Amino acid sequence: MPGNTFGHSFRITTWGESHGKAVGVVVDGVPAGLELSETDVQKDLDRRKPGQNEVSTPRSESDKVEILSGVFEGKTTGTPISMLVWNKNANPGAYDYIRDIPRPGHADLFYAEKYGIRDHRGGGRSSGRETIGRVAAGAIAKKLLLLSGIEIIAHVIELGGIRATPLSIEDICKNVESTQVRCADLDAAEKMLQRVRLLREEGDSIGGIVEIIATGVPRGLGEPVFDKLDADIAAAIMGIGAVKGVEIGAGFECAGMAGSQMNDAFILQDGTIVQDTNNAGGIIGGISTGMPVICRAAVKPTPSISKTQKSVDMSSMEETDVEIHGRHDPTIPPRMVPVAESMIALVIVDHMLRSGRINSDSLY
Ligand SMILES: Cc1cc2nc3c(=O)[nH]c(=O)nc-3n(C[C@H](O)[C@H](O)[C@H](O)COP(=O)(O)O)c2cc1C
Repeated sequence: MPGNTFGHSFRITTWGESHGKAVGVVVDGVPAGLELSETDVQKDLDRRKPGQNEVSTPRSESDKVEILSGVFEGKTTGTPISMLVWNKNANPGAYDYIRDIPRPGHADLFYAEKYGIRDHRGGGRSSGRETIGRVAAGAIAKKLLLLSGIEIIAHVIELGGIRATPLSIEDICKNVESTQVRCADLDAAEKMLQRVRLLREEGDSIGGIVEIIATGVPRGLGEPVFDKLDADIAAAIMGIGAVKGVEIGAGFECAGMAGSQMNDAFILQDGTIVQDTNNAGGIIGGISTGMPVICRAAVKPTPSISKTQKSVDMSSMEETDVEIHGRHDPTIPPRMVPVAESMIALVIVDHMLRSGRINSDSLY
């Protein structure tokens, strides 16, 4: 089963299953000399971990990270950094009743047909728990990017059809972690929370939209043909479970705009040519423009729902009803926020290293 590795110069390989012994990541390509501790990584893992509040799964995991290699006396050595999180609250037996019944909205059927393996223990590699490795690696990427003045923030802008009012980056940063749904518009956040509660009582789930903003990205990242920055970002975000759509800048709205509305005009600012708007979302021709990189991800409703759905028993080949019980996120976007930040950080740090803007050998 290939495809567990992401990136070129900053390369991560995630491993482990949702209900196996542990999950983790090996990060290759971190320059020597970066100050790094488990606390740096833990901060983001705590934002991702389950059981945080009523909008996340009640699965109780502390998700404490252990750095096994690649760090000496508080600094990276340039060798692979291996990080591990033990699964403490795994309960594979809870999935026995669906051993032969593929869950609608999940990869179960197609995974079993393709590999001949039915890992019925909560999705195996397709589980949201796989994203622990991405978030741990992303924390290192973010730390490295901060040295170049690049910061990444994600927030929920829509949940269950309720849309947040657009806010300044300062207000987003100030408010986003203060609400359970990670929406910086506090009025909308309250309405979103009510909607999650309602759908959960009905045994259903809702989806939403996560927006990711990267500031301080220098001009000139990305190559114009097959290594476009926006193409790499789209692949990175689409590669997160439950994401069904990705847009950059004006995104799908650009289809209904006139060229005169869409084009970001050039103006002079202190002798430099800049753009007066950012419909392009910080990328034109696959190359970063120096404006904030803005990306949005459409996230589907959590597939595991306790409402009755149709499925087929793969052993008897008879149609059957299935209700998914157990521990699930009633909605995924709030937990996706740190995952989406990490994936964008991984793409940008990779381009920074490949273009020589960050020295790949050492920060000394
Ligand atoms: C952070 C995160 C948490 C998730 N939590 C759940 C969950 O609790 N229950 C569930 O059914 N799906 C959850 N998912 C989504 C499934 O993993 C995903 O929808 C499924 O593997 C099918 O893949 P696809 O939706 O990308 O096609 C989560 C995904 C992420 C990224």
